[in-house]
Amino acid sequence: FEQEPEHRPLFGRHVLITAGPTREPIDPVRYIANRSSGKQGFAIAAAAAAAGARVTLVAGPVFLETPHGVDRIDVESAREMAAAVKGNLPADVAIMVAAVSDWRSKDVSGEKIKKRGSAPPALMLTENPDILATTAAGGNRPSLLIGFAAETQDVVENAKTKLKRKGVDWIVANDVSGDVMGGENNRVQIVTKRGVESLQNMPKDDVARELIARVAEELETSAE
Ligand code: CTP
Ligand code: CA
Repeated sequence: FEQEPEHRPLFGRHVLITAGPTREPIDPVRYIANRSSGKQGFAIAAAAAAAGARVTLVAGPVFLETPHGVDRIDVESAREMAAAVKGNLPADVAIMVAAVSDWRSKDVSGEKIKKRGSAPPALMLTENPDILATTAAGGNRPSLLIGFAAETQDVVENAKTKLKRKGVDWIVANDVSGDVMGGENNRVQIVTKRGVESLQNMPKDDVARELIARVAEELETSAE
């Protein structure tokens, strides 16, 4: 059934979301990754679709069902994620929830690396592109650009620094020092140029709905 317009505040909007970890190959059987489950990003995609938006979800490797009404693009590496994001702009809103691997192996071996009997192989790393910062600086910048920041210390201070450094509108900061990564709950603080709003610890689905409600409100007031 069709919901009433007041329940579809993002109708006509395109929302681009990244979620999950990225996976950076070392050789055909090994990779570098992180503990991100993708749950928070998928919950935000579901909430945006429920609010009436057209949603593109660029997902790293995760074990999650695609939310109803969401266009999902699966990627593995940060560079694949960057290309998928670029290829799916423009968007009214972009929310980069993915835990992008900061580094990848400089050389990817075509064959499985073997034990050599002596020293273990030295892994040379190189930095991945910053998808959020690139989107902020690019030609197709969404009018509302939101990053997430997983921190284990100085959460708000680090988020404020990232807000400026990356040139984004909001940073949703979360303290991942507990079991947030992979867990069901999240406690976030929304950091904007105007200030900091601290939300309670709550299920990731509720965090998603709270965030999307604020996104809808922001688009409405900026249109006036
Ligand atoms: N991000 C990104 N591309 C990267 C690294 C991060 O798009 N290569 C995005 C994340 O999706 C998130 C935001 O940037 O929305 C902040 O990520 P975070 O890891 O907290 O910031 P970094 O700049 O990587 O800083 P650090 O990990 O050193 O704290
Ligand atoms: Ca990082």
